[in-house]
Amino acid sequence: MSEHFEDKIKIYGQDAIEPMEKAGKLAARVLDFITPYVKVGVSTGELDKMMHEYIIDNGATPAPLNYRGYPKATCISINHVICHGIPDFNRFLKATDMLNIDVTVVLDGWYGDTSRMFYADEKKAPVKAKKLTEITYECLYRGIDMVKSGNTFGDIGYAIQNYAESQGCSVVRDFVGHGIGRNFHEAPNVFHYGKKGQGKELKEGMIFTIEPMINLGGYEAKILDDGWTAVTRDKSLSAQAEHTLMVVKDGCKIFTESEKGFTKPPYN
Ligand code: MF3
Ligand code: CO
Ligand code: CO
Repeated sequence: MSEHFEDKIKIYGQDAIEPMEKAGKLAARVLDFITPYVKVGVSTGELDKMMHEYIIDNGATPAPLNYRGYPKATCISINHVICHGIPDFNRFLKATDMLNIDVTVVLDGWYGDTSRMFYADEKKAPVKAKKLTEITYECLYRGIDMVKSGNTFGDIGYAIQNYAESQGCSVVRDFVGHGIGRNFHEAPNVFHYGKKGQGKELKEGMIFTIEPMINLGGYEAKILDDGWTAVTRDKSLSAQAEHTLMVVKDGCKIFTESEKGFTKPPYN
């Protein structure tokens, strides 16, 4: 019995590790691949097109495309866009832009989901953009540090929220991490805020994402008329970073690490 449910959350067996690693590594390689093209003057539509082709060429498919009507292969979220930014052939990167690129691939029926931050021009990125990016990655890794069996989902949320707020930032409430594996989104919702000891207990074999969205201003979000693009209500900058991981003996296994060491900007 390699797969079963506990508290409605799927418990995957050891046999999930190899295919999840393949899917996760491919998603990370898509971001590695696109990194040198993220420059002033390129359009987000062009970046998406290149990633789409790379995904197909590697025998996988982009999970977002046609997911609940989503029109593109990836999400590219610039500046005050929190998440689900739709790539656009008419939106060209400017020197001061900061952006998140979120890639989810399906490989042999298994999902790998990861995102990273980028600057259009490392030298011209605003100080506050760099500060927010650093804080967001620290949030992600403090969350990941809580992942071991016996801890709870509340411990993850608390670690993220406590750090973000200690730095004067806020945690987006309207979007969450999620169980993943042989589906894009499975139970549970993984909140990036919470209280120590609350929520369900982490158990070996659970697979989920942690993907905190951190704002320089307030946490309130709204969706634009395109039905997807989520922005900060106060127009403050927002950053995000995401990994897919599994609870294993003595901790967790991250499936979406870069083989090039492209963890966070700068990437050179
Ligand atoms: N990759 C996103 C996540 O981390 C989901 C994108 S759904 C889409 O969960 F439809 F907007 F692509
Ligand atoms: Co995700
Ligand atoms: Co994602």
